[in-house]
Amino acid sequence: MREEIAKAVEYLLSSRRTVALTGAGISVESGIPPFRGPGSLWEKFDPMEYAHINAFLKDPEKIWKTLIAEMRDVLMNAAPNAGHFGLARLEKLGLMGTVITQNIDGLHQKAGSTDVIEFHGNFAWLSCLECGIRKEIGQVNAADLPPRCDCGGIFRPDCVFFGELIPPEALDRSQQASAQCDVMLVVGTSATVQPAAYMPVIARQRGAAIIEINPEPTPLTGTTSQVLVQGKAGEVMNELVSAVESLKK
Ligand code: APR
Repeated sequence: MREEIAKAVEYLLSSRRTVALTGAGISVESGIPPFRGPGSLWEKFDPMEYAHINAFLKDPEKIWKTLIAEMRDVLMNAAPNAGHFGLARLEKLGLMGTVITQNIDGLHQKAGSTDVIEFHGNFAWLSCLECGIRKEIGQVNAADLPPRCDCGGIFRPDCVFFGELIPPEALDRSQQASAQCDVMLVVGTSATVQPAAYMPVIARQRGAAIIEINPEPTPLTGTTSQVLVQGKAGEVMNELVSAVESLKK
């Protein structure tokens, strides 16, 4: 067993309360590109021109016909991978509590995780800018963009754009879960976007052990985190779950 995996298993098995923080990396093996790095979404779309709330309000038609159209095709056809299923399996084994995700793809819930905080919202839902009514994205006609509500208002995705605050309930619950855990699995995030990237710091300040799963080191590595298991989330979670199951017997 790899040394890092052995350390991670030791932390998980001795933990009273483990939570996870996940990012785009856990969904890469589901065919969803990350936001940063080669072949990423922000390499194709400048986030300040396409993913900032002011840009959306200035020209919703443009954003609907470009960024949102691109994401819609990828997100609506994605399925969870071994990374998502691994966290759900740890939950079933009583070794995983809350999953705080920065992802808007809903794949943790599809994999069976039952306590998921959607820190940046969920792409599958829309709300009207005028009356606030909510609707599933599958119910709007993709040919008629931007989609309009019966009240005449324009629908926006229920995701957090740059320039917007995190939904207060999601932020509160995430800060609490981070402050109360004694192990945090940080999977597939570059840990560069606040306030999500601060959750491992809150957990560490309260004495929790931070375990990263990522092919690359991040700003947390060696400062806030104790273990970095270098590898793809799906592959590493398979290794981790089978190691845990072999020891829990
Ligand atoms: N398994 C695990 N990690 C991976 C994999 C993989 N198969 N492939 C890539 N990664 C890692 C990368 O090394 C990187 O550290 O996933 C991370 C992806 O980083 P980002 O693209 O920056 O995504 P994320 O950290 O989730 O971004 C945070 O920024 O743009 C906003 O709102 C958006 O939620 C997003 C936030």
